[in-house]
Formats: sequence, structure tokens, C-alpha cells
Amino acid sequence: MFIYLLALVVILSMAYYKRFCYRRRRKGEPPIVPGHMIWGNGEQFKNDAIKFLHDSQKNHGDIFTIRFFHQRLTIIADPHSVEAMSREKCFDFDPIQKQVNMNVFSFVLVNARKMIKEAGKRVRGSHLVTEMRRYAVHLDEAFNKVSQGNNNKNNGCIKNDEDNNNNNNNDAKSHCQETDGLRKFVSKTNFAAMFYTIFGRSDDQVFEPQTVYHCFDVFHRYFNYLWLGLPIKLFPKAIEALTVLCKQPSSKKILAREDLSDYIRYSTEFMLAHGQSEQDIMGHNLVYLHVNYNTFRLSFWNMYFLLSHREAYDALKNEVSGMIRKKMESRASDETGPVVFSIKEIEEMPVLDSINSETLRLCSGVFMVRYVNEDCNFKMNNGQTFLVRKGDRVAVYPPAIHKDPEIFEDPMDYKYDRFVDQKFYKNGKQLKNPIMTFGTLCPGKRYAILQAKWYLVSQINKFEMYICNGQTAELDISYHGHEILPPVKDIDIQFRCRENYQEITMH
Ligand code: HEM
Repeated sequence: MFIYLLALVVILSMAYYKRFCYRRRRKGEPPIVPGHMIWGNGEQFKNDAIKFLHDSQKNHGDIFTIRFFHQRLTIIADPHSVEAMSREKCFDFDPIQKQVNMNVFSFVLVNARKMIKEAGKRVRGSHLVTEMRRYAVHLDEAFNKVSQGNNNKNNGCIKNDEDNNNNNNNDAKSHCQETDGLRKFVSKTNFAAMFYTIFGRSDDQVFEPQTVYHCFDVFHRYFNYLWLGLPIKLFPKAIEALTVLCKQPSSKKILAREDLSDYIRYSTEFMLAHGQSEQDIMGHNLVYLHVNYNTFRLSFWNMYFLLSHREAYDALKNEVSGMIRKKMESRASDETGPVVFSIKEIEEMPVLDSINSETLRLCSGVFMVRYVNEDCNFKMNNGQTFLVRKGDRVAVYPPAIHKDPEIFEDPMDYKYDRFVDQKFYKNGKQLKNPIMTFGTLCPGKRYAILQAKWYLVSQINKFEMYICNGQTAELDISYHGHEILPPVKDIDIQFRCRENYQEITMH
């Protein structure tokens, strides 16, 4: 009996291999990277994705094909060819977007291209200004809330300890401080402000920032499995979290909110006009929260790197306080109220910009993937042409480009000023876009970067903060495929609100 079973397994494995895994390379196709008979290159990728892709590039050149089980992925490792990949008509992003909507959030977006194109305009141009003003107001409120908690909680005051002594900051030593997790702190401030900017304020007890943050945290652990098509039934905790995330007000109630974001107003009205159900609209709301969640993760890492690299913290603090001082000096003597920053000023602060780019470089975990909708000849930037097969996928893996030592010196090190007045080259040619964390299609890039930058400016202006006991945070690489990786676990911080800080705002 056992022999028969074994024979059956062998026959089935061979049939699977022959049908799905075996491929003879056709003339003109990219080289194939050798891998395991059944799971292809999955293990090499899982063990150390960046080393595997760097080695493959060295051995096979700037374009090569890898395989995860039966799924083939042609990797374009040449950063100069990313633009050509993004323009290529036979490479399509829609099936990827549909896969996330269907497999993870259980809905199909009707007339998706038009909706994403039009909704995307709601975080750009004049809408960007409106949304940023809203965000700045909500962020101020969130900061006030955490610092009131801080002031009222005398028992929570921590006397000077070794951490503070190490930090060499006498000012901080003389004041009461509170401990929290850094990630928790960023969720109560950055995520809460983002949430209210998106959905407006309400007294809803379930669809509110902290509940949603906690449920997303659980749900995200299963994101990759769901995206790949495994049924949610296999993951009871994901079902539990999703059940809470779906306890949302009706679209009618959300649309009645005056301070609703332009993006959600437009997308909800669009979906209703296209006959989509309340459940579809909820699914879309979750997708939108999911993309915005990346900004929250980015803010965590921005803060973590600043706090663990005191020279970076001080450089940014000097940049921010220098600008505030200058603005105060040019004020009329009777002028009061918050100091106003324009979007342009925030975008053009060199240290702030470099700090944010360095975090984006180190913490991205995403593939930029396209489905190949017909056999086609893809022309690389150097003029070489390769045949790519219908049904395969092509991909750029930004983390591998971001850690390429030929582009970035000491690529594993955090250098806060790496991007100040710097240009980056590969093969003697300047890179147009050295940071690829947003791919080429993300409509929220400018908005997300601006929110992350404003968060840092406001945070550093209002709070003094330290990491406790030399704790360190590590990127959780099991989340590869997520745009920004989360940390393996939270770290403890001490913080206090600065006395006599200058109120600031954005217009
Ligand atoms: C740090 C924050 C963010 C990161 C790292 C990020 C990254 C990405 C990436 C890598 C893609 C795939 C692009 C490609 O393959 O070319 C994408 C797509 C997308 N992102 Fe973002 N994103 C962020 C924030 C946002 C925000 C705030 C929005 C809000 C508008 C947004 C909306 C979208 C949408 C709608 C798509 C799909 C575009 C399409 O189907 O054409 N993202 N994002």
C-alpha cells in the first residue's frame, strides 16, 4: 500500500513539475536562475533576498527569470530600465491591484482604472493643500492628547536614569517623563491624525483609530498568505480582525461627514454610482487605510533612526529651530499665533528630505510587479532586447537596488545626510530616481512624503524623546512584499513635551 502511495506522490510531483515548473529557455529570453525542482528559487529568496538577487545579477546580468513554485518572475535588476518597464504597454498592473482587492479585501473595483486615476487627483494639487491642513490640525490634537496624558500622570514621572545620563541632555533630566512604546506613540499621533484626515471625526467607538490600528496589526500578519490566494478560513485571527475592521458606518453616514477626505468622498460616490455594494465600499475603505498605513510605518522608522542616531536628531532639530527662529525674526512686532510653514518650505528642507529618503531606502520591502499580457520584446535601457512570455510577471525589487554598494556607499549603514546635495550613479550613468519605494504608479507619493515630513517637524518641535536602555528595532523581513516593513517588535521610549515650544502650522 505504502509503495503505491509513494509511487502516486512521485508521479503527481513529476506531472506538476513537467506541467508547471519545467521550462526550456527560448532564444532571446532572459537567463533562468537555477533553483529547486518544485519550489524554484523560493528558499534562496527567503533566506536572503538581497544577496540572492545581487548574486543572480552578477552571474546572469541585468535581467533574469526566477521562479516561486509555478510562478515565474522576470527580474529587471538594472535601475536605468525601470522607466522603460513602467512604460511598456504589455506589462499590466491591473491584475496585481485586482489580486489584492479580491484575495485580501474580497471585492472587485468596477471601472478601476478611471476610479484610481480620478481619486488619485484628490491627494494632489489644491486637494493636497486641503488634506495637509486637515492633517496638521488632527496631528496637533493628537499631540495635545498624548502630552495631556503626560502632564496629568504625575505617578508616571521617571527620575533621571542611566538612559538620560547617557543622552547628555541636562534639560531633559530635570523634567518628568513618560514611557511608552515608540510604535504605540506613533500610532496614537501619526496614525490617529491620518485616520481622522481620511474619514473625518466621529464618536464611533469601533471604527476609530486605535481599534483599527490594532486590528490592522493582526490582519497584516496574514496579508501575504491571503494575497497569494490562501483562503482566509485558514486564519481565524485574520477573520476576527477583519470582522472588527468591517464594523464601519454606512456610506451614507460617512458621506454626511463634513470633514471627510476628498479621496474617500470621491471614491465612495463613484462606487455608489457604479452599483457597488456597501461591502465593496467597506473593502475599498480598508484598501485605502492599508496604503496609508505605510506612512505610519515610515514615520515609525524615521523616528527610530533619529532617536538611535543622535547626530541625525540634532541636525534635524537645528534645521527646524533655525527656520522657526528666522520666521520669528521677520515677524511684525505685534504678530502672534503659530509660525506658518508652506508645503514648499517643508519639501525643500535638505536635512529633513535626506532623513526621509534614507529611511525609505532602508525600509522598503516591496516588489514592483507587472503582469505580462502578451509575448513581447522588452528593450532595456542599454538597447538590448529580451523576449518576455505572456502569463509571466516582470518585477523590479527596489530593496536590492537600494542596497547596491555600487550605487550607495556602505549600503547597510544609516547615514542621515546621505542625500544632501548628492547624485547617485550606476555604470557611470546618473540615476533619475534612486529611491523606488513608491514604484512608478503610486498616486499618494507626494502626499505620503509630506505627511511623514510634517510629522517629524512637528514631533521634534514639540517633544523631547529618548530610547530606553539602548533598545534596538529590527526590520521584520517576514513581511517582504509590504511597501514598508514593520519592526519585529516595539521599543520603549521616554518622552516629554518641551516647555515653551513655539506653535507651528502648515498652509
Ligand atoms: C509610505 C507610503 C506609501 C508607499 C511606500 C507606497 C508605495 C506604493 C507602491 C510601491 C505601489 C505600487 C506602484 C508600482 O508598482 O509602480 C503603490 C500603489 C498605489 N498607492 Fe501607494 N504608497 C504609499 C502611500 C500611499 C498613499 C498615502 C496613497 C493614497 C492616495 C497611496 C495610493 C496608492 C494607490 C491607489 C496605488 C495603486 C495605483 C494603481 O493601481 O495605479 N499610496 N504604492
